[in-house]
Amino acid sequence: MHAEDRVLDDEEVSGRILTRRKFLKAAAGLGAAFGGYGFLGEPNWLEVTHTQISVHGLPEPFEGYKFALVSDPHWPEGIEQGFMTRVGNLIQLECVKAILVPGDLVDQSSGKKVSLKGVFDNWTAPDGQFATLGNHDHWSGAKHVTRELAENTPLKLLDNEFHLIEKKGSALAIVGVDDYTDGFMDVDKAFAGLDPEIPRILMSHNPDVAHDMTGDYRVDLQVSGHMHGGQVNLFGWAPVTPSKYGQTFVRGLVQGRKNLVYVTRGICRTKIHLRVGSRPEVSIIELVSADS
Ligand SMILES: [Fe+2]
Repeated sequence: MHAEDRVLDDEEVSGRILTRRKFLKAAAGLGAAFGGYGFLGEPNWLEVTHTQISVHGLPEPFEGYKFALVSDPHWPEGIEQGFMTRVGNLIQLECVKAILVPGDLVDQSSGKKVSLKGVFDNWTAPDGQFATLGNHDHWSGAKHVTRELAENTPLKLLDNEFHLIEKKGSALAIVGVDDYTDGFMDVDKAFAGLDPEIPRILMSHNPDVAHDMTGDYRVDLQVSGHMHGGQVNLFGWAPVTPSKYGQTFVRGLVQGRKNLVYVTRGICRTKIHLRVGSRPEVSIIELVSADS
């Protein structure tokens, strides 16, 4: 008879049951803690990041120019009004000059028309607040989202066009393109008439544009969202990424084919309200001269 074949006495049996129970209890506790963190903790745990970008030929009036980059609210399925207001309040504390929102403003899979009345009310900055459309805006009805943005928000939609921010005879351009995969991105139209001497920030929901954009256009910085930092990000690796370049553009500052792109993690929690290793992000970008 092997040792493990022998019949256990009552005390040994109850000891083993207790050990197993303890293990299951600990595992359940860990699972609950992980689930609580992923579903209830991290999705509400906003992070404000600060990044300095050097720009060649940045006019003196724009030295130290700060703007907020906040993407992917996914209203109303991925976020609530309280969280939107909190984000707006945080932006106000940073004293930025402009706010850039590169897409997925709306997410409504039921087909019901969404109202944006009041949703972005405290997302305001002295030089303006600008948006582009993302794939979810198109899936939710681009025409309706466009109308809502114009009638019920302070956001100006840049749909294959640019806006000039002017200071003391100098200018900085914000160029916005429609969504790469589900919209009608027209880069030539977006840059048409823009003086090549003027530094510019390109807003594109999808960061893949940094590798795929054709045409010889000056871009000093591209800003994008779409990736949500992977939503679940395990020590820098995201199991699911909506990009043909895999992990390349998952988050942060990345070198594209010709220009840098800052990929913000966005603020939504998605329909299942889950985030792990990818806190919702309000990105504050500061431009500084690369020539001094
Ligand atoms: Fe998104």
